[in-house]
Amino acid sequence: MGSITKSLFLIGVLAFTVGCKNSKKEPISKVETENNITIDLQKQIDDCEAQLEISVPKLTDLTKHPRLIETNETEWKQVPNHKLIWTSGFYPGILWYAYHATGNERWKEEAIKRTEVFEDFKNITEHHDIGFMMFPAYGLGYEIGGKKEYKDILLTSANSLASRFNPNVGTIRSWSNKMHPRWQQHITIIDNMLNLELLFWAAKHGGDQKLYDIAVTHAETTMEKHFRPDLTSWHVLEYDSINGNVLNHHTKQGYADDSRWSRGQAWGVYGYTMVYKETKDKKFLDFAQKITDKYLSLLPEDMVPCWDFDVAHDPNEEKDASAAAVVASALLDLSTFVEKKEDQERYYNAALKMLKSLGSDKYSAVGKADAFLLHSTGAKSLGHEIDVALIYADYYYIEALDRLRKMQEKK
Ligand code: GLY
Repeated sequence: MGSITKSLFLIGVLAFTVGCKNSKKEPISKVETENNITIDLQKQIDDCEAQLEISVPKLTDLTKHPRLIETNETEWKQVPNHKLIWTSGFYPGILWYAYHATGNERWKEEAIKRTEVFEDFKNITEHHDIGFMMFPAYGLGYEIGGKKEYKDILLTSANSLASRFNPNVGTIRSWSNKMHPRWQQHITIIDNMLNLELLFWAAKHGGDQKLYDIAVTHAETTMEKHFRPDLTSWHVLEYDSINGNVLNHHTKQGYADDSRWSRGQAWGVYGYTMVYKETKDKKFLDFAQKITDKYLSLLPEDMVPCWDFDVAHDPNEEKDASAAAVVASALLDLSTFVEKKEDQERYYNAALKMLKSLGSDKYSAVGKADAFLLHSTGAKSLGHEIDVALIYADYYYIEALDRLRKMQEKK
């Protein structure tokens, strides 16, 4: 190589290297609380990135997405990106958070590719899961990836979701009766709280005010009807579609109709924390605190619940790490909303303990399988997804790590 060619080559390599690395995030030092809880946040983020280095090259068929890793298996089982499968948004969402937490452009490119394959889902009106599907992919793409062109897709998605609102009941109808024939009328499940984030986002970004109003009414009705006097949540409520009366309190994924399904309570904790963030209405903060305190009071030492609190006395019953990841992420936000310092510390410390436990050898999938986390339970009562890795456990886990990272940066 001549000296001019060599210099140009070196300048090229240097420019490429700087171009790739200049957005990389500075490492975060260990996070310690006043109660001596220490977590190595950077290591936990690095572990996630290392797991993505393994899974991304294996997951090349973009018409599918990873859903679970069966017990004792190592690779993701993939399911089609189909409008009736609620989990399509989580893997792209994980990649958006990985990009945000590391600054590595590779994850942004992968996130874009895996987001843009299901734009058509913006027209889903058959169920409520459109929020779970579109927000982690397109919503984070807009917020983290700067993909402003996703705005119209999100607005259309929000309108599709809002079309399922029944003003006689005051909630969005979660499921169709055809797919869930046990129920004949208007079904709302506690999980639906998470979908409200899409409506709030749309109302703030040029969508109709009615999207905001629907979200608030859904949250108010659910607060009034969906919780037992002891502040635990039912899973499925069937309402009379005409007069709005509650006809039945049931479950689909819990142990029994009247039992306390852990992830249901987790969706409530996350949902009301998010509704307070969006509305700043104190009644939602008070409620978020009450149901959070209930959830925390039911936890075992390692902060990861059994899949249903009502079978937790049996040591053979499986854990649900996904519930712990959902709540850890919510608690970091909640700790910044509450006024009293003791509450701030209580929620922050609990979140750190959960993240530390999830990142430990007991729950981490590092060296064992291609996920971030093991030991989640999706639907034991239906006989599947028992003690597995679940894509949404990983999603809320990396969301929580990224939230904690941002909190540290602010400090
Ligand atoms: N939203 C469905 C579930 O929590 O399994």
